[in-house]
Amino acid sequence: MGERRLRHVRVAVAAAVAVLTAPAVAAPPASEGAMLAAPCAACHAPDARSIPAIAGLPAETLGELLLKYQSGEIEGTVMNRIAAGYTPEQIRAIADHLGHPGTGTTP
Ligand code: HEC
Repeated sequence: MGERRLRHVRVAVAAAVAVLTAPAVAAPPASEGAMLAAPCAACHAPDARSIPAIAGLPAETLGELLLKYQSGEIEGTVMNRIAAGYTPEQIRAIADHLGHPGTGTTP
């Protein structure tokens, strides 16, 4: 392989590496709370009418409600199963994220 050809290969490899790594560099890593709370908006969207709004609830209240669904102290249709899937630390992260003003489903 001549030097000229090798240079082309190097350029192609450099371009491929740039393309592969670019998205990871461009997107800042989401917090654990943001990732865990992402599916909540599917049901708890601000315009959802038949599902109680969680927007605007303080983080404390949100966390307590989730723990009560988890323990069965509050009986719901779906929230018991949803809450059962998280550790107490994850519930805290979700509550901190959603309860924090200006993030998640909080207006
Ligand atoms: C599949 C739809 C669905 C998803 C996904 C969902 N919820 Fe719910 N949520 C409900 C429904 C329905 C209720 C009413 C209680 C019940 O029937 O379980 C509720 C109730 C609640 C309540 C109580 C609100 C109140 O004022 O009493 C909180 C807090 C809550 N959800 C938080 C969350 C969080 C946090 C997530 C994400 C981890 C989440 N929900 C994901 C459907 C959903």
